[in-house]
Amino acid sequence: MTAKLAVLISGRGSNLQSLIDAMASPSFPAEIALVISNRPKAQGLERAAKAGIPHKVIDHKDFKTREDFDTALDETLRLANIEFVALAGFMRLLTPDFVRKWRDRLINIHPSLLPSFRGLHVHERMIDAGIKIAGCTVHFVSAEVDSGPIIGQAAVPVLPGDTAETLAARILEEEHRLYPACIRLLVEKKARVSGAVVQYDSSVTASGVLQNPPDSD
Ligand code: GRF
Repeated sequence: MTAKLAVLISGRGSNLQSLIDAMASPSFPAEIALVISNRPKAQGLERAAKAGIPHKVIDHKDFKTREDFDTALDETLRLANIEFVALAGFMRLLTPDFVRKWRDRLINIHPSLLPSFRGLHVHERMIDAGIKIAGCTVHFVSAEVDSGPIIGQAAVPVLPGDTAETLAARILEEEHRLYPACIRLLVEKKARVSGAVVQYDSSVTASGVLQNPPDSD
């Protein structure tokens, strides 16, 4: 049985692409049933089209309020019988009401080792702070920005001479491996929210899945 996943994007869509690629494996337990972009020109829409995945623009500019936009989003997801929602470079804050409706079924990827470096301009801020270990995090979404129970993380070094661009590229490689691995955990119900943290099925290992996961099959 494959779970119906929606991916929400605003731009480039390289994480969407990593999920499209993961989905090509027959053992992957989720299908991307819908891609939604709030920006009509998002490059990720072309990736969805190329893969033959239903995609839709819900332009936030067409709505008076954040609540109206989120209501349209919620209705679209429900009409498509979506079970899980993955944010992948989706640059809109979601209302607490939307987050509540999709509680424990809504996840996000962020290019830092949360809870450090929430928010925007993460790579520049990490370089400026002089940190030596950076990385990315997949987490359940809670009402505050870039927070919620952590599902998995991957670490990369910050090297001498790194710029925001070179660091972003190194982290992105890990994002593309981490997100499919975490989505697998989620839809196979091997990662569950328990208060502020995630609890795992006993088959889940930190070395294989939760941190710097290997390429999935
Ligand atoms: C990624 O770095 C992701 O972690 C962050 O936004 C970026 C989206 O990149 N939330 P892409 O659109 O998936 O290429």
